[in-house]
Amino acid sequence: MNQRPNSLHASDIAHSMHPYTNMRLHEEKGPMIMSHGDGARVYDMEGKEYIEALAGLWSVAVGFSETRLADAAYEQLKKLPYYHSFAHKAHEPSIRLAEKLAEMTPEGLNRVFFTNSGSEANDTVIKMAWFMNNGLGRPEKKKFLSRNKAYHGITIASGSLTGLPANHKDFDLPAIPVVHLTTPHYWRWAEEGETEAQFTERLLKEMEDTILEEGPETIAGFIGEPVMGAGGVMVPPEGYWPGVEAICRKYDILLISDEVINGFGRTGARFGCERYGFTPDIIVTSKQLTSSYMPLAAIVMNDKVYDVIADNTAKLGTFGHGFTGSGHPVACAVGLENLNIIEEQDLMGNAARLEGLFQEGLRAFADHPLVGEVRGVGLIAGVELAKDKVTKEAFQPAGSMAGKVVAFAADEGLIVRNVYETVALCPPLIVTEDDIREIHARLGRALDRALDWAKAEGVL
Ligand SMILES: Cc1ncc(COP(=O)(O)O)c(C=O)c1O
Repeated sequence: MNQRPNSLHASDIAHSMHPYTNMRLHEEKGPMIMSHGDGARVYDMEGKEYIEALAGLWSVAVGFSETRLADAAYEQLKKLPYYHSFAHKAHEPSIRLAEKLAEMTPEGLNRVFFTNSGSEANDTVIKMAWFMNNGLGRPEKKKFLSRNKAYHGITIASGSLTGLPANHKDFDLPAIPVVHLTTPHYWRWAEEGETEAQFTERLLKEMEDTILEEGPETIAGFIGEPVMGAGGVMVPPEGYWPGVEAICRKYDILLISDEVINGFGRTGARFGCERYGFTPDIIVTSKQLTSSYMPLAAIVMNDKVYDVIADNTAKLGTFGHGFTGSGHPVACAVGLENLNIIEEQDLMGNAARLEGLFQEGLRAFADHPLVGEVRGVGLIAGVELAKDKVTKEAFQPAGSMAGKVVAFAADEGLIVRNVYETVALCPPLIVTEDDIREIHARLGRALDRALDWAKAEGVL
């Protein structure tokens, strides 16, 4: 990308500090500046069209041009642009959205606490678990179980739950007591000759052994994404989640389903926990909750969790936690309208109906010389590259080849993202069969161009 003096490009380089970016490289390359959206597509400043096959950041369910959400925001801005929910105050949008979430989530999950982001939501969950266990007179029950390659956010506590090196290195994380267990990804982590059932059994044994070693009286919660997203789209092995749930129940450990990506139809079911057959104590949602038109996250919990917290607030006089923007009326109005659209247009059903076409078309790339494994469910998938299909040896440095594929894909008019060696896809829930065929075609061309490049450079 060229740098033009006095242009947005030059200004961005001069003044903006980008998240998840090599800043020195950015100073050379400059930004890709997006201008507008239309359905599943976005357009850059030069007018180039892209299918947004990551839905922004796994989040824009209704596409990039839903005027009903703009109208909902505008109406709310005119009526009551801001109010909070501290100390018994309330407003209609947050009441209605909480009611809607209680209705949509599995039976028993009835109480909703709003934050502005997934990271804040997971921080809040950690604090709730600590507050709860202190209230119950078991102050030592504070540790969390998470998994390697988990993504739960980037604040000091939620970033500690995340299990990715880039989020820990030089940030002095983890900073809270957390044990990261093996990633439930059969293709990468199974031992020689191990069946999927044996792999699941080994992971569950690891979980239970860890609990016994640490002491069940010290473990507050287990947190996991039903399908792991930002760590590289990992689909759990058969029987994993019901096994995790049983162990949590046995040792009185809170089970937290982080559905920030999975929620609202992404996996082909309403929630990932429903797809994988378990009932958590807490569901964390965000992203598709408002299609990311406004920042909002919601923690939905059962009465067991709520009652202990509520009792402790009665004892202490308050729940000393909350954000200025918790349950922001404009964000909640947009969220409510977004969920109405998802239901009216049966977008969750659309994800389920298109799963076969989407996943099978991607599975066809499994034979491509650059590809190690293709995996996914619903409308979320990962295409993991490997230098050697048999030994599963990755290209070095990590992410370099997948980065090439992503760059060629952008050139072909397809936005995807790589997480190390995995090319992730997560298109808006409004995609059509034609969009999906076009995603396959553009990705196929990007893979072929990366292969030609690899051969020319002697990388393969
Ligand atoms: C599963 C999961 N949890 C939490 C988060 C953090 O959300 P946020 O970026 O809104 O802080 C993310 C973000 O990608 C996520 O995928």
